[in-house]
Amino acid sequence: MTTVLAIDQGTSGTKALVVDPAAAGAGGRADGGIVAVAEVPVTPDHLPGGGVEQDPAQLLASVLDAGRRAVRAAGRPVAAVALANQGETVLAWDRTTGKPLSRAVSWQDSRSQRQCDDRADAAGWVARRTGLVLDPYFSAPKMAWLRENGVREGVVTTTDTWLLHHLTGAYVTDAATASRSLLLDLDAVDWDPELVALFGLDPAALPRIVACDEVVGTTAAFGPEVPVAGLVVDQQAALFGEGCLTAGTAKCTYGTGAFLLANTGAAAVRSGSGLTTSVAWRARGATPYCVDGQVYTAASAVRWLTELGLVGSAAELDETAADDAAGVVCVPSFAGLAAPWWRSEATASFAGLTLASRREHLVLAVLQGVAAQVAEVTRLVAADLGGPLTRLRVDGGLTRSRTLMQAQADLSQVPVDVYPSPHATALGAAALARMALEPELAAADAVPPWTPGRTYEPRWPRARAEEFLDRWRTAAAAALPRQDAAD
Ligand code: G3P
Repeated sequence: MTTVLAIDQGTSGTKALVVDPAAAGAGGRADGGIVAVAEVPVTPDHLPGGGVEQDPAQLLASVLDAGRRAVRAAGRPVAAVALANQGETVLAWDRTTGKPLSRAVSWQDSRSQRQCDDRADAAGWVARRTGLVLDPYFSAPKMAWLRENGVREGVVTTTDTWLLHHLTGAYVTDAATASRSLLLDLDAVDWDPELVALFGLDPAALPRIVACDEVVGTTAAFGPEVPVAGLVVDQQAALFGEGCLTAGTAKCTYGTGAFLLANTGAAAVRSGSGLTTSVAWRARGATPYCVDGQVYTAASAVRWLTELGLVGSAAELDETAADDAAGVVCVPSFAGLAAPWWRSEATASFAGLTLASRREHLVLAVLQGVAAQVAEVTRLVAADLGGPLTRLRVDGGLTRSRTLMQAQADLSQVPVDVYPSPHATALGAAALARMALEPELAAADAVPPWTPGRTYEPRWPRARAEEFLDRWRTAAAAALPRQDAAD
């Protein structure tokens, strides 16, 4: 059984786990045998005009620092290193020296809306070919933005490729991360020359696409030289880690944003309802797909509440939030609206404020606003799957808020099963790395079995949930910038 150092390089921090399946005991344990955890925060810079940037050197240093600390704390050798990545964050860099030639442009950055507008005529065929929507969230518009804003030298890739270059010297990305780029033919799972040309990128500079259970090289960055395998975009890593291995199973991760993904099996279903489709993972020669919907600000919205002093910290959400929002409704689109609106310029809003409104109403309204957005995605996923979800698995820091989780069950009208470990993403990457090193290991055996830490059953009757969502949708429509309000 392979002991893995699994690194989850996220928007707000890098987490490293040492996972030793032998430590999980007979029959496995929900945490899969986590023997050490180290976390290093990273700080995105929020710029006027929708810019969100990260310091590449800080990202790399956080990977090395968190990984080394976890290995030291574990006090045992690891046999492989796995890496989950942010997905759509890009940078330019020199392939010879590995030096960054730009800052990292975060997935939350909306400054490449013009690059999307310039290509609006292609939106239809781009969506059919990629499963995605022409939106600044995805990698290619940001790559084009860098090229069109003076960064002419070097290669432009997602952050995983750059980090892996530093760890192994390889020039690769995994199939799931590639499927978030707007450059991938979703059915062929290969770069599409017409898409690459559409965004003005160099086809010769694209990284090799690898499977998630593939060894891509070796690294001595964390101790003795070991293979690097288990490369995967973070949301799909959590989908895998939570055991959503069959069509119709779904999870939502509440991190910086909230991301709901539903496994659609071997079918690359193109969403008819404004969601997106990507590769779930490529492993054991198979490529399952998933549909997904995104809420760009979840923990980001809570951070905004804390910065304004409306709540002391995320840990105080439940004691601060009112039992009833007294008519206050929040659309927490602080960084634009994704599926199904796709309006990167949308801003956040509160409706229903009166002189009697208190901070506890605002805090509850923000949590209900996040849950309402996820509920909208739950409804749309059902349309694409051909039937409603029967349960929703959830993970991420904000699942500690009972208020948010109950609101989610009430508004989505499904039981919400909380994953018992805060490390679903890293555990998913660790499981894929094990599959790379243990050829006989099936996916179902690589993923640790688990039972929910807690389940939230819907308490609201369906009619009340629908009435709330109607009001919330009206508030969302009213908050959209004027020129398209009649859409
Ligand atoms: O698509 C972006 C998303 O995967 C980032 O996840 O955990 O860094 O908020 P996280």
